[in-house]
Amino acid sequence: MSELSSIKGQVAVVSGGAAGIGLSCAKRFAAEGAKVAIIDRDQNLGEAGISSINNNDGEGIFVAGDCTSDTDMDNAVALIKEKWGQLDILVNCAGGFHSVPPLEDVDAAAWRAGIDWNLSGVYMPMRSAIPLMKNNKYGRIINIGSASGRTGAAIAAVDYSAAKAAVAGLSRRAAVELAPFGITVNTISPGTVMTPRIAVLHKERMAAIEASIPVGRLGSSEEIAHAVWYLATPGASFTTGATFDINGGQWIG
Ligand SMILES: NC(=O)c1ccc[n+]([C@@H]2O[C@H](COP(=O)([O-])OP(=O)(O)OC[C@H]3O[C@@H](n4cnc5c(N)ncnc54)[C@H](O)[C@@H]3O)[C@@H](O)[C@H]2O)c1
Repeated sequence: MSELSSIKGQVAVVSGGAAGIGLSCAKRFAAEGAKVAIIDRDQNLGEAGISSINNNDGEGIFVAGDCTSDTDMDNAVALIKEKWGQLDILVNCAGGFHSVPPLEDVDAAAWRAGIDWNLSGVYMPMRSAIPLMKNNKYGRIINIGSASGRTGAAIAAVDYSAAKAAVAGLSRRAAVELAPFGITVNTISPGTVMTPRIAVLHKERMAAIEASIPVGRLGSSEEIAHAVWYLATPGASFTTGATFDINGGQWIG
């Protein structure tokens, strides 16, 4: 494998990595020879995810934490620093929504909770990890946005769509600030991807969603992880501040 595409021996951290897209990213990194830390608030799923990596000749640790908490993220990064001394790749996957109420039914508390979950949950892991990346003059940050932050046509809660659009703005601003330190920051905005959460959330409208995707099916979390892997490689050094729509043609900008 060329130096441009090898992440062997690097340290990759996946926040919200215990399930779905995040778990596929963690497994892909491990398969590529990276050491992997999964940060997640679901202890059982997180430990199971890391076991499956370690049982397949990978090297990983699980760190319990809520991505919206600055304290949890500072503690998680401190633990990773103590174990491996570096942090090369950060993928931020924590996020989601539970229902799609009419806009006027999203009260102040629900609005703030959605923004916190989907925007602060990306910002806090970045904030904690960046000093370690700066020390090493190297880093790859990949933030998971959503097609619903790109188009009003995707079915999602309003707070979620707003926060996901803001994730791309955060990534663009951070990309400029961090470029002199060898750190790239990009956003991947997936269309509808079959994960356990989506299977439940969109059960009733699955056929309609499939029909709206030109490739004729939902994406897989492995297909998103493949795009994430590219952005995480050393060779993606000239790719920063970009937003990648990985959606089977569901929305083309
Ligand atoms: N699946 C899709 O169709 C789709 C489409 C577009 C964007 N996305 C985005 O991709 C990301 C992953 O989605 P998924 O479908 O794989 O979700 P998922 O629910 O299957 O997995 C999310 C994981 O993140 C963890 N998590 C959530 N909030 C957290 C928090 N605050 N702190 C710590 N852990 C937290 C959960 O415990 C879970 O393990 C989300 O940001 C989602 O918005 C998903």
